[in-house]
Amino acid sequence: MIKIAPSFLSADFRNIQKEVKKIESAKADMIHLDVMDGHFVPNITFGPMIVKDIKRCTKLPLDVHLMVENPNFYLKAFKDAGADYLTISIESEIHLHKTLSQVKDLKLKVGCALNPATPFDLVKPVMKHLDLLLLMTVNPGFGGQKFIPDVLNKIKCAKDFIIKNKLKAEIEVDGGINPQTAKLVVKAGATILVAGDAIFKSKDYKKVIKRMRDLGKIQL
Ligand code: DX5
Ligand code: ZN
Repeated sequence: MIKIAPSFLSADFRNIQKEVKKIESAKADMIHLDVMDGHFVPNITFGPMIVKDIKRCTKLPLDVHLMVENPNFYLKAFKDAGADYLTISIESEIHLHKTLSQVKDLKLKVGCALNPATPFDLVKPVMKHLDLLLLMTVNPGFGGQKFIPDVLNKIKCAKDFIIKNKLKAEIEVDGGINPQTAKLVVKAGATILVAGDAIFKSKDYKKVIKRMRDLGKIQL
């Protein structure tokens, strides 16, 4: 089963509530929220305050993707704001095991993100603790970038590892995902597709979401 997580970074922030309702009626499975601090990535977005406002507009799960230094400082704040999933960037955290455990202790779904150049091997020691493995298919920081096909092999490695070790982690991909690149990542083993521009810059959110989700129903 394929889940679609529209990346709110590409939404029209003049109309937060309207955009949330639009992706809800287009049958999105969750809302992906990109938190950037201007240090870990060269861009600044929003923090818990906006996450809290989005939570007030929806019952959809909030998939909070932290692209910040010292993520452990902010775990509780995002929990209180209404995050359901909290994803830590592996490159931002020296004490990864500890921080992932803290996310679990907060009773949130725990995710770990890898930049395109970060090898899958680095996350293997904590894979059994993860609900979500986020494999970035662009270098994080901005929406609307081009998909990096080099990551496909990493998706396949991760899928094989998850099957072989009977783990629960779902593979999420993020960056440059549209109905064309979605085919490649679904074939490689991804089950949660984050998409920003492909959804929010389209005329028909529902059609794009359905096209991507239906890839799970056909033999690719
Ligand atoms: C990039 C973010 C993504 C981004 C995806 O750093 O993590 O979630 O918004 O946007 P698109 O789908 O437009 O590449
Ligand atoms: Zn993201």
